[in-house]
Amino acid sequence: MTTYWHPFADMSAVQAAGELTLARGDGSHVWDTEGNRYLDATAGLWFANVGHGRAEIADAAAAQMRQLAAYSTFGDLTNPPTAMLSDRLAAIAPVEGSKVFLTSGGSDSIDTATKMVRRYWSLAGYPERTVLIRRERAYHGMHTAGTSLAGIRANAEGYGGLLADVVEVGWDDAAALRAVIDEIGADRVAAFFCEPVLGAGGVFPPPEGYLNAARDVCREAGVLFIADEVITGFGRCGDWFASTRFGLEPDLITCAKGVTSGYLPLGAVIAAPSVWEPFWSEGAGMFRHGYTYSGHAAVSAGALANLDILENEGLLVRAKALEGSLTEALAPLERHAIVSEVRGGTGVLAAVQIDPDRLDADPSLVGRLVPACRRHGIMTRALATGALQISPPLVLTDAELEELTSGLRAALDDLEA
Ligand SMILES: Cc1ncc(COP(=O)(O)O)c(C=O)c1O
Repeated sequence: MTTYWHPFADMSAVQAAGELTLARGDGSHVWDTEGNRYLDATAGLWFANVGHGRAEIADAAAAQMRQLAAYSTFGDLTNPPTAMLSDRLAAIAPVEGSKVFLTSGGSDSIDTATKMVRRYWSLAGYPERTVLIRRERAYHGMHTAGTSLAGIRANAEGYGGLLADVVEVGWDDAAALRAVIDEIGADRVAAFFCEPVLGAGGVFPPPEGYLNAARDVCREAGVLFIADEVITGFGRCGDWFASTRFGLEPDLITCAKGVTSGYLPLGAVIAAPSVWEPFWSEGAGMFRHGYTYSGHAAVSAGALANLDILENEGLLVRAKALEGSLTEALAPLERHAIVSEVRGGTGVLAAVQIDPDRLDADPSLVGRLVPACRRHGIMTRALATGALQISPPLVLTDAELEELTSGLRAALDDLEA
């Protein structure tokens, strides 16, 4: 019996069916301990942008570990790779003059962002601006702040009282956002949290014009706009950030995952001058927030090597091309008998939605989706709506795209039979 308590798992079911132990990865593929090969349709948990098995990242982290693996960066301390990484992230940030606060992952970044925005308003003399607005279907990680911001209802149930002053709006309606801000009073609202493409909630790309309209609503109401780019950053949407692509100029960007392609745990909050200036000005005092591994030297070295790969191999441009070919390749699956919709078209992000009527009629179906895909050599997972997540590494070749679609089709055929 396993001692490992898996995250996001029904452990009784895991014990009954057994675990799957992955041993190795290379490019767009992973292998289990039995030697079975799978096409990684999800890039791990949306993170392996440069693909698996990149020795350059391992070598960079190892070399830094031999020099100085880690040291605190509290107060005035820093280290060379962390200083370089923060310069590099500031240079690619969509807002000029940004500053970079490093964390250990996406949930940390969201927690940091909620504290930053509330403290920002407090420093600015408006401590009553505490309300955080989340979107329906949103996923912002599982720390207490992220759980409070969960638009996926089940993710927030059973924990008692979470953060106060959190309000939900529809996921696709900027006019509704404006109405909610007006109703609460802009002078009470701190920030709006927005995934440019809703990810774990089921991969819902933004309706045409939505992101810019929501951004305008926030700007007019003086509400801080936070782009949660934990999934969409670092090439996944064909640019360094989806915010760059859509010209959003967010007040804060939260990111993680693709910044190291998952080789090491790292997150960041990138703050525009509008937010960092009051914190950095004389008299603001200490921002009493930070983590043991904020600015971890070996992690920063790994991140720099990952950014080099993204840049040197032209993976942002490659992602833009893959966005089109992936959409085209998956489109015919929409006609499959058990599929109701294929969503995608913004970035290398898609979802094959299993027909909700079929899911309602056969409650065992959702549990059979992933095993069927694995039998056909495709590693994926089911998202909140019962859709299959498709977010492969950005290095996916044309032949691997064909492997992905034919494996998915074979799995769907099995499930229909
Ligand atoms: C949009 C978004 N925000 C935050 C997070 C949380 O990141 P982490 O799991 O690294 O804490 C995720 C994770 O998938 C995410 O998709």
